[in-house]
Amino acid sequence: MSGLPLRGARDLPHIDFDDLTRDARTIHLDLGTGLGHFAVEMAVRDPEAYWIAVEHEGAVARRAARRARNAGVANVMVLCVDARQLLYEWLPAQCLDHIWINFPDPWPKDRHADRRHTHPWMLQLLASALHPGGGLHLATDVAEYAEAFAVALAALPEWKTGHDLERAELGVTTKYERKWLAQGRHPHYADWTRTQDSAASPWPTSIERQDAPSLDPATLPLATGVRRRGEHLLKLFPDRDGRQHGVLIDRVLGYDQHCVIDITTGRIDLGGVWTTWKCELFVDAQAERNQISANSAPSVSR
Ligand SMILES: C[S@@+](CC[C@H](N)C(=O)[O-])C[C@H]1O[C@@H](n2cnc3c(N)ncnc32)[C@H](O)[C@@H]1O
Repeated sequence: MSGLPLRGARDLPHIDFDDLTRDARTIHLDLGTGLGHFAVEMAVRDPEAYWIAVEHEGAVARRAARRARNAGVANVMVLCVDARQLLYEWLPAQCLDHIWINFPDPWPKDRHADRRHTHPWMLQLLASALHPGGGLHLATDVAEYAEAFAVALAALPEWKTGHDLERAELGVTTKYERKWLAQGRHPHYADWTRTQDSAASPWPTSIERQDAPSLDPATLPLATGVRRRGEHLLKLFPDRDGRQHGVLIDRVLGYDQHCVIDITTGRIDLGGVWTTWKCELFVDAQAERNQISANSAPSVSR
């Protein structure tokens, strides 16, 4: 296989999920794959399974992709993108058989609560991506995190407690798992099943897509801070020649600790450039800075 099996958020609109997974018997998401040990090893063992290994840290994702390439497997794609964006923007509804969350960052501080996978919005995204009967598998060394998952999922009709997997029988461990086991610590494992009768909507209900408002860009502020719901942003991207391309960012649609913002086509009179693409942008409201996801470089048509 030539090249790293690594794709970024910029690639998402061009990757055909059905085409990619056409020959797969089962489809798995390894959420926060880290260095990819688990996904790659599992893919090696079962060539009929397809693994999407998502990792948002670029350097880490590249190492996972190198691992997949060195293993010579074609049934793993490493995606360097925030899992939330992947779930919200790209994965078709009910397309996965299994989601594996191995040793997630626990984000113990209150101000980071929205980054935990137990965030209600994330749980809804997870439910949307799994088909009925699909499995969610958690491994963590943080007892409170396992408990928080159990409590949160018990309250949702989309989930029921699944049959505990015998991890030892899988015969595959993650890098973190090995570390904890070597220290004599005992990870917590838990499994849930997406219920058959669930009517979970394919998209988080709290987010509504709206048409871009017609605004005079000249009156818009620069996207230097966090805006409140309903406000609008303009973000400027300099190109290689130093020219500024403007992007009209739609109003803040959903607002929790993260806002989700629709970026839509807009005409900004800064060199007469149209931007013609659309993606979501996660704004970290707590950190008071904008995190433009990797696919936010505008594709420009003149
Ligand atoms: C503690 S490591 C565990 C790695 C691996 N699963 C293992 O068990 O060895 C958690 C990983 O999840 C990644 N991660 C955390 N939040 C993420 C998100 N929202 N999207 C994608 N990756 C994420 C981190 O960058 C980190 O590499």
